[in-house]
Amino acid sequence: MVVNHSVFTHLDERLQDLWLSELQRITQPGAILLLTVEGTGSWNRICDAVASGGEDMSAWRTELESHGIVFIRDDVLIGSTHPDFYHSTYHAPWYVYEHWTRFFDIVAHLPDGSITQDLVVLRRRPDGAPPPSPIGRRHTAPTLPPRAARRALVESVLASGRRLTDRWSHRAAGPHASVRELDMLRAGLYEQGNRISVLAAELRAEIQSLRNGDSE
Ligand SMILES: C[S@@+](CC[C@H](N)C(=O)[O-])C[C@H]1O[C@@H](n2cnc3c(N)ncnc32)[C@H](O)[C@@H]1O
Repeated sequence: MVVNHSVFTHLDERLQDLWLSELQRITQPGAILLLTVEGTGSWNRICDAVASGGEDMSAWRTELESHGIVFIRDDVLIGSTHPDFYHSTYHAPWYVYEHWTRFFDIVAHLPDGSITQDLVVLRRRPDGAPPPSPIGRRHTAPTLPPRAARRALVESVLASGRRLTDRWSHRAAGPHASVRELDMLRAGLYEQGNRISVLAAELRAEIQSLRNGDSE
């Protein structure tokens, strides 16, 4: 069994992935891990505290909602005795389910289950066992951007999708693509997929509102 509290709450995604893969290496199939993250409860508490100081967390919120994880480098630990890589990280529960299942099975996710942090209970899979099918992401109801802004967004998503696809075919065809490069491309494609899903939801909502006859 591996137990830690308040460690993944301070590392960026790259260091977290290194640790998750190290924990995978040193544990036996069936091993249980208890790890904590700053989840929804912590996020709401920090947002309330920051808002009462007159600061705005909306940019971080947008990033947390779209990426599922934020690493806040510009935090109260700046200038402290901690090393430079050590700051404040928040996780959306869906991110933990989608991303950490690449390393372990998730047995339980307990909001505020470890003092003020979410407790994530994981189990090491037998070697070679496939991860469970990912659970789909739920999108909140979209707000429609103006038509011109949406057209620009569609163009940028398409252009970026084309670039990623070109790079993907180029690298995948080449003999020397590194795992890291392919993984970055995969993350980029995944991100584009998310943006396209959001656009599709917006267009569906607009079509519905046109059908209802309540639009220009
Ligand atoms: C907030 S403390 C938590 C300490 C203790 N587990 C607790 O709950 O009181 C964060 C811990 O993360 C550890 N840590 C910081 N950077 C790390 C890294 N890159 N890899 C592993 N552990 C790290 C620190 O040594 C520190 O013990």
